[in-house]
Amino acid sequence: MFALVHNDRHYYERIAKQVEGIFTVQQVYSLSELQRLGGLEGIFADARLVAAIRERMPGVPVMVIEEPFAVSEAMRWWDSVQKPQAAPTSPFLTSVGFTPVTMPQIERTGGRRGKVILFVSPKGGSGRTTLCAHMAAFGAAQGKRVVYIDADDDKGDTAAKFGLETEYTDYRGWRGHTFEAAIADGLAITPQEFTGLSVVPGPKVVSGSAVGNLGEDAAFLANLAAQYADMVLIDTVQGWNPMQIQLLPLVGHIVIVVAPKAGQEENTQLMISKLVYTQLPSTQISVLINHPDGRFDWKTYEHIVSPFAVTLSVPFDRAYKKKGGVKAKQIIRACGNWWKEQYGFPVKQATKLKWRR
Ligand SMILES: Nc1ncnc2c1ncn2[C@@H]1O[C@H](COP(=O)(O)OP(=O)(O)O)[C@@H](O)[C@H]1O
Ligand SMILES: [Mg+2]
Repeated sequence: MFALVHNDRHYYERIAKQVEGIFTVQQVYSLSELQRLGGLEGIFADARLVAAIRERMPGVPVMVIEEPFAVSEAMRWWDSVQKPQAAPTSPFLTSVGFTPVTMPQIERTGGRRGKVILFVSPKGGSGRTTLCAHMAAFGAAQGKRVVYIDADDDKGDTAAKFGLETEYTDYRGWRGHTFEAAIADGLAITPQEFTGLSVVPGPKVVSGSAVGNLGEDAAFLANLAAQYADMVLIDTVQGWNPMQIQLLPLVGHIVIVVAPKAGQEENTQLMISKLVYTQLPSTQISVLINHPDGRFDWKTYEHIVSPFAVTLSVPFDRAYKKKGGVKAKQIIRACGNWWKEQYGFPVKQATKLKWRR
């Protein structure tokens, strides 16, 4: 039952007629009378009375009656009262419904505004590290200041690609004030051959332990790095996890590395959906198809990644598989123009995408 609080009899009768069959209303003349009514669903009242009613009857929804009264308006009001408020859409929510993680307080303190690119993939062994490391080496060789953060707590093997030793300081929990301090503290290392590059190796020293705060640590470092470098590349663990979600607010671009092997269709589909749900504009997401050494169904994969444009198709470099490093000719040839674009170098002609072989 609804109460209609008003002291004009004619007015009451007119409204009662209008809402007939939709709301059951009881006319009430005074606030004390209103308080005596039990089991009220809602109250219609004159604007001047609303504050007093809300104070006396907390928890009962009140609709302000305005002239001319429209029953459709009342129905809309009642609808909105009954429906739970829709959750605000957030880029940090994903389709699988896990609660958004607490964000670290990230403050940009000025200086440079390096671009931050996140490398992700549905599956381990897709080529994230290979493509990310090649891109880092390319930029550094062309005179850019590049930071590579290996935030893969599972198989962080970046260091090996640059000929660095693989056991380093565990950077989790480090809270310095500048990226220069990270270099001085040994968290970031410059490979001999690439003076413009700083590599933060993966925290492999704690292999096997649950690395819950790695996202926060990587975000902290990436934020400092963005003020120091032109380009910050973050290599992350397979899948789309709270860690990547924590990094999202810093990220200007996401690269999804897809190695389209048979049997990985479902994984890839899931990853693509999660990226769609981040609500990032598709211009900030690139799909790199990294060809595995094996067969797969092109048509299926073409369809699966279709919410985003396939930016690049990278061939399998047979010679590279044995050699390692960051100098695979075929990879450089396939990615060069796209790298230039990302680093802001002039590109003579657009990359022609060879999507099919
Ligand atoms: N385009 C490619 N051509 C040849 N070998 C590749 C290519 N991409 C990746 N690989 C090889 O595949 C393996 C897995 O690649 P990696 O970059 O470590 O994957 P992820 O970082 O996604 O786990 C490595 O041995 C790497 O050398
Ligand atoms: Mg890797």
